[in-house]
Amino acid sequence: MTDIKDLRVVLDRFRAQQRRSDVAVNLVPSENRLSPLAQMPLSTDYYNRYFFNDALDPGFWQFRGGQDVADVETDLTIGHLSRLADAPYVNPRPISGLSAMMIAMAGLGGEPGGTVVSVEAASGGHYATAGMARRFGFDSATVPVLRGQVNEERFSEILRERQPDLVYLDLQNSRHELEVSRVAELVRAHSPRTLLHVDCSHTLGLVLGGALGNPLDAGADTMGGSTHKSFPGPHKGVLFTRSAELHQRLKDAQFTMLSSHHFAETLALGLAAAEFRHFGPAYAEQVLANARLFSKLLAADGFDVAADEDGHTTSTHQVWVTIGDAERTDRFSASLYDHGIRVNVQVDLPGLPGPVLRLGVNELTFIGGREPAVHALAREFSNARAGVRRDGGGSRRVREQCGPPFHFVEFS
Ligand SMILES: Cc1ncc(COP(=O)(O)O)c(C=O)c1O
Repeated sequence: MTDIKDLRVVLDRFRAQQRRSDVAVNLVPSENRLSPLAQMPLSTDYYNRYFFNDALDPGFWQFRGGQDVADVETDLTIGHLSRLADAPYVNPRPISGLSAMMIAMAGLGGEPGGTVVSVEAASGGHYATAGMARRFGFDSATVPVLRGQVNEERFSEILRERQPDLVYLDLQNSRHELEVSRVAELVRAHSPRTLLHVDCSHTLGLVLGGALGNPLDAGADTMGGSTHKSFPGPHKGVLFTRSAELHQRLKDAQFTMLSSHHFAETLALGLAAAEFRHFGPAYAEQVLANARLFSKLLAADGFDVAADEDGHTTSTHQVWVTIGDAERTDRFSASLYDHGIRVNVQVDLPGLPGPVLRLGVNELTFIGGREPAVHALAREFSNARAGVRRDGGGSRRVREQCGPPFHFVEFS
C-alpha cells in the first residue's frame, strides 16, 4: 500500500516538475497555457460540482453547488464566446475536441446508415473521425485535402452519389488555412440537404482572433472544436451555430452523451474568452507572424522546413521540420528537452513519411514571444543541432527575449 511518505515524494515531484514547466518553452501545437485568471476556477469548489440548470429555472435547483456562479457559465462564458464567433448559439459543454466531435456527429449525422464525409487522415484529417462515424453506425467517406483545398472532383462525386447527411471537416495537420467557402458552394450545388460542420480544433484561436476566416461566414452550418490548442483556454470543447434548430439538435445530443461537463473548466473557459476579447486579434496575428518568421530563420540556417514549390511555409500556427531518421529526431528532441524546450514528433504528417517535428508557436506567443524570442528560439535549434551550449539554459534564453504576455498580468 502507498503510505504518506510515498505521497510526499509524489508531491515533491509535481512541485519540481511544475517549476520546470513554469519556465519551459512548449512548442506542441495542440497545447497552450492557461492564464492565471483562467486557471483560478480550477482550484475552487466548483471543480467538485455539477451544474445542470442552464435555463436558471428557480424551481429546478436539484444540484445547488454551482447555483451562485451559474450565470458565469450562462452569461460570461456563452456571451463572450458568442461574440468572438459571431454566433448566437454556443454549447460550451463538450469536454474536449473529441467530445465535441462525438456530440456534433451524433446530433447532425442523421439516421444510422447515412454517410458522414471527413478529411482523409493521410491528408491531414483527424485519425479518429472516420472510425467514430462507423461506430455511430454511419457510412464513412473521406476526401483528400491538399494545401487547404478539398479535392473538388472527389468531393463532388461523393456528394452526388451518396447525398451525405453530414460533411465533417476535421483538418488537423495543416500548414494552410482550410478553404471552407468552396466546400459550402459544392454542398449547395450537389447535395443541398447536407449539413456542413467545421472542426477547427487546431486553429480555433486563430479563427476567434480573426486571423483566419470564420467558417460560419464561409457557409458552414456549425463549427467548433478544442479550446486548448491555438485558443489559450482550458482542456474543453465548444460548438457554435447561427441556427436555433441545429443548436437544439446539438443540445439534445449533448444531453444524452455528456452529463458532467466539468463545470469549473467551463468557468475557466469564460474567463479565458473574456481575456481573449481584449487581445485575440493581436495574439492571432502575432502567432502567424511568429510561425512565418520561425520557418524563415530555420530554413535560412539549413533546416529542412516543409514548404511548397512557391516557398510558402505556413499560414497557420504549425511549422514542420524534418530532422532525419527516428534516432536523430529523437536525439534532437531530447537535447532540446534538456534545455526546457519541448517539441512534438509526428510520424503521419501529410506528404512527409517518417518522423517530423510538428511545431506550434501558439503557446510561446501567448506568453509574450515576438520577433526577438523567435530569433532566440531559432538559435537554440541551431545550438542543439551543433551539440553546443549544453547548459540547459535554452528555454531561459528564449524567455528572456519575451515581452509582455497576451493575458492580464495583474492576476498573476
Ligand atoms: C480536428 C480535430 N478534432 C478533434 C481533435 C481532438 O481534440 P481533443 O484532443 O481536444 O479531444 C483534434 C486534435 O488535434 C483535432 O485536430
